[in-house]
Amino acid sequence: MKCIDLIAGARPNFMKIAPIIRALETKKGTGGALDYRLVHTGQHYDARMSGDFFTQLDVPAPNVNLEVGSGTQAEQTAAIMVRYEKLLLLQRSDLCLVVGDVTSTMACAIAAQKLGVKVAHVEAGIRSGDWSMPEEINRMVTDSISNWFFTTSEGATRNIRRLGVADERIFFVGNTMIDTLFSNMSRLRPPLFWKQFSLAPREYFVLTLHRPANVDEVKVFSDMLGAICDGTRGMLVVFPLHPRTAKTLQALDKFPANLKIVEAQPYLEFNYLVRHAKAVITDSGGITEEATVMGVPCITLRNTTERPETVTIGTNELVGADPVALRLALDRLFAGEWKKGGIPELWDGHTGERIVAALERLLAN
Ligand code: UD1
Repeated sequence: MKCIDLIAGARPNFMKIAPIIRALETKKGTGGALDYRLVHTGQHYDARMSGDFFTQLDVPAPNVNLEVGSGTQAEQTAAIMVRYEKLLLLQRSDLCLVVGDVTSTMACAIAAQKLGVKVAHVEAGIRSGDWSMPEEINRMVTDSISNWFFTTSEGATRNIRRLGVADERIFFVGNTMIDTLFSNMSRLRPPLFWKQFSLAPREYFVLTLHRPANVDEVKVFSDMLGAICDGTRGMLVVFPLHPRTAKTLQALDKFPANLKIVEAQPYLEFNYLVRHAKAVITDSGGITEEATVMGVPCITLRNTTERPETVTIGTNELVGADPVALRLALDRLFAGEWKKGGIPELWDGHTGERIVAALERLLAN
């Protein structure tokens, strides 16, 4: 039986890997040809950033945890490469499957390919064109050394073709993050503070910020919070905190009155909040996809996106870091003029199955 390493390291990886595991387990039950080893790099390690997602999404405990922990980009990359290489030397696998664009994605792809272990990249080909984002570097490096590419859009497929990759190595399969959303939609549940803050559907905003460019400098961060809380006209803004953001927040001495700071939320509670929000304000990429599928207006505090379909088809708009553009967007929202949006092609809840079917064919040869 062929064995695939499934790599997961940081929060956004866990929801992307869950449907692939489910599809592999289903096939195994009916005599499928693929086994897997779940490798957690330990890039994220808190219960709030990691453990809760395994429990809620019913992902089995990792077979291996490389326990790399935090560090600079280079420190994390190096630690993951060294430890994953050791694992492969001890026990080789037939394929290294990486998802998304975090440091763990790139580091494991490099370590595997250098040992001649084939690499498959799920969510290949997306590009923001913004080299100041570590994720963009991770995407470019990973895509330049992968054997097989699973894409979420025709645009991403075109980006991979432009690298000179033959069509038979590219698979437009849809979005595994949306598989997870669909399969958990009926399980979404309000967080404990829902009653405490008297939250009601469409009467609050959800805010997430964690990009270094937005949260690492105190003045940039506090100006941004001020502009958001002014433009939302006193409505509550629920702000689940990423650990990076929490560090900067400690340096602020006052907060807008309508800002409700809460801990990083588990998956089911976070998406319940998004589903019922008036709108989401974010600097994340994945959340723009979830908001699009749930038909919730989404304002992105970035100038670029690697997920253009969330803007051209979905409910997302880019306003950058400009408070005037943010205010104009919020004014349109309050005037009831936000676009309705649709769901991108193949974001249908069956991507994990398509990926596993393709892998069975590819690894049979
Ligand atoms: C990483 C990903 C980013 C993703 C984000 C989601 C990269 C380059 N970036 O960014 O694409 O959107 O995860 O969360 O891979 N920390 C904790 N507990 C943890 C993990 C981290 O306290 O469990 C702290 C660390 O000390 C560190 C900070 O959070 O200072 C940032 O963690 P890091 O893994 O470096 O990157 P993220 O900003 O989380």
